[in-house]
Amino acid sequence: MTLHQIRTVIAGLLLFAVVLFPAYAQEEKTSAAMTPELLEKIRKSNNECFACHSEEGFKNPPKVEMDLVKLRTLVQDTKAFNGSNHGLMECKQCHGQGYNDFPHEAEASAKLSPCEECHAVKVLKIEMQFDASVHAVNVKEKFTCNTCHSPHIDLIASKLIDPRKIVAQDNRHCLDCHDSDLQFAKFAPDDEKTLLKKARPNIDTIHDWLPNTRRHWQRVRCIECHTPEGKGGKILSHQIMDKEKAEKKCLACHNTNSSLMTRLYRHLIKEEQQKLGFVNSVILSNSYVLGATRNPLLDAVLMITVGALLLGLLLHGLGRIVVRLMQRRNNHG
Ligand code: HEC
Ligand code: HEC
Ligand code: HEC
Ligand code: HEC
Ligand code: HEC
Ligand code: HEC
Ligand code: HEC
Repeated sequence: MTLHQIRTVIAGLLLFAVVLFPAYAQEEKTSAAMTPELLEKIRKSNNECFACHSEEGFKNPPKVEMDLVKLRTLVQDTKAFNGSNHGLMECKQCHGQGYNDFPHEAEASAKLSPCEECHAVKVLKIEMQFDASVHAVNVKEKFTCNTCHSPHIDLIASKLIDPRKIVAQDNRHCLDCHDSDLQFAKFAPDDEKTLLKKARPNIDTIHDWLPNTRRHWQRVRCIECHTPEGKGGKILSHQIMDKEKAEKKCLACHNTNSSLMTRLYRHLIKEEQQKLGFVNSVILSNSYVLGATRNPLLDAVLMITVGALLLGLLLHGLGRIVVRLMQRRNNHG
């Protein structure tokens, strides 16, 4: 063997060790449950449905005589589905055999499997908490698991890991309804006095004690404040409590010992948690500039109070100037 050939062999071995072997080992781990053949079978079966129920399918439907207006509302996101909790399942496993042909069987929708058919143990526990939630108690008939869960799209928090993605997914469901008059009205109970649909309380007004609510909605979940903080359970509670019981203390989160560690941040590795655990956070660390108290939270509160005071004074002053100018104009005119 020449020196050149030996080098090539060593380089090849190194490449296998560093790049290919981990990938190969990874492949081994997952292939125990999912073989390429099985995956191909699933994708093929689902492509029969996507032939109509996808963006591409809708544009080039395999049949002409169809209710295209209705199909428009039934289009699925192929990529999102494949990456979701249920992305390795056949549509038929949940929807049954009634959709195999088109036109679909008249009774097909009655055969939809409920969550508990496959998740009996989890559902048993979740159902008890859900039954005690404000939604189950106040708007029972209309509220189901699917009101919050999109079985075609959702991916659980322990797989999303990135807190921003988790927040976006979980808050989207709450905000789609609590931030939309149209959607809220579909679920709202009747007001006992007026007999009209109960009006939607504005989500920002309700939380006006919280600075920069929209920023909070992007960084923290509604459920962080609206569900009880159970101890060590693997699944966060599904009991959305009465508003009186909601968390209002800033310190619950704005603390080096933040409750978010056992909630939103728990899927991160420890070092990552520390980064987000408000140790280095903008409001806590910057407040040291004030330096008066050496207590980060007090500093933050102080800063906010001083800011609010200055703004108040400014607005008040401006208001007086404007009023005086208008009075002068009126006197002259
Ligand atoms: C040839 C096109 C086509 C194919 C293939 C197709 N569908 Fe449909 N599907 C439709 C259309 C159009 C509708 C709208 C309602 C109707 O006309 O039945 C619909 C309606 C539905 C609905 C909603 C029923 C309701 O009103 O709530 C579901 C669920 C559904 N299809 C699932 C599937 C599944 C699962 C598959 C694959 C096994 C599939 N479809 C294959 C065209 C198709
Ligand atoms: C884990 C179970 C499950 C799987 C797998 C599943 N679905 Fe669904 N699907 C549901 C449920 C539950 C609903 C009802 C949602 C609701 O009531 O809002 C639904 C609703 C639908 C609808 C009605 C419109 C809508 O979006 O709400 C269509 C169309 C549909 N599914 C197509 C599909 C297709 C196509 C596949 C495969 C690519 C699929 N589903 C896989 C559970 C599933
Ligand atoms: C026909 C069976 C079936 C039905 C019905 C079903 N699922 Fe699933 N679900 C599965 C399977 C299989 C997995 C993948 C498990 C895994 O990856 O270990 C899964 C995974 C999940 C996961 C992610 C992780 C986990 O194992 O808990 C969630 C969350 C979930 N399903 C919620 C739901 C909800 C909510 C419903 C009702 C709308 C539902 N499922 C209906 C079969 C089902
Ligand atoms: C008010 C909205 C809402 C309703 C209604 C709801 N869920 Fe959830 N569910 C959530 C949120 C938010 C999460 C994420 C919590 C977390 O990070 O653990 C979740 C998580 C889950 C998980 C994943 C837990 C895990 O990490 O393994 C399952 C399974 C689940 N829900 C099932 C159900 C079932 C079954 C029902 C109906 C009895 C239901 N959900 C009703 C909002 C809801
Ligand atoms: C930082 C904690 C916190 C977060 C995050 C939070 N809330 Fe609240 N929420 C509260 C508190 C505390 C109250 C009670 C306020 C009061 O009574 O003055 C409340 C009240 C409410 C009410 C009752 C309205 C009424 O007066 O009838 C609704 C609805 C609500 N929140 C929905 C949400 C939604 C949706 C989100 C996510 C977008 C959310 N909350 C995020 C703490 C929070
Ligand atoms: C599809 C609509 C819908 C979704 C989704 C929804 N809610 Fe609600 N929610 C309602 C309605 C309607 C009420 C009013 C019930 C009443 O006034 O009796 C309500 C009431 C509430 C209340 C007030 C309870 C009280 O004491 O007055 C809170 C808090 C709340 N929701 C939080 C949430 C959170 C957190 C989520 C997401 C995990 C969520 N909701 C998802 C429709 C929704
Ligand atoms: C449920 C947890 C939670 C609670 C309770 C909470 N916050 Fe926050 N807050 C957060 C998170 C998460 C961020 C984003 C931090 C970041 O971006 O590093 C944040 C950001 C902020 C910011 C920075 C906003 C901006 O514009 O950048 C301020 C100011 C703030 N919070 C003040 C408060 C005050 C005052 C309270 C009590 C009235 C409070 N927070 C209650 C979680 C919470």
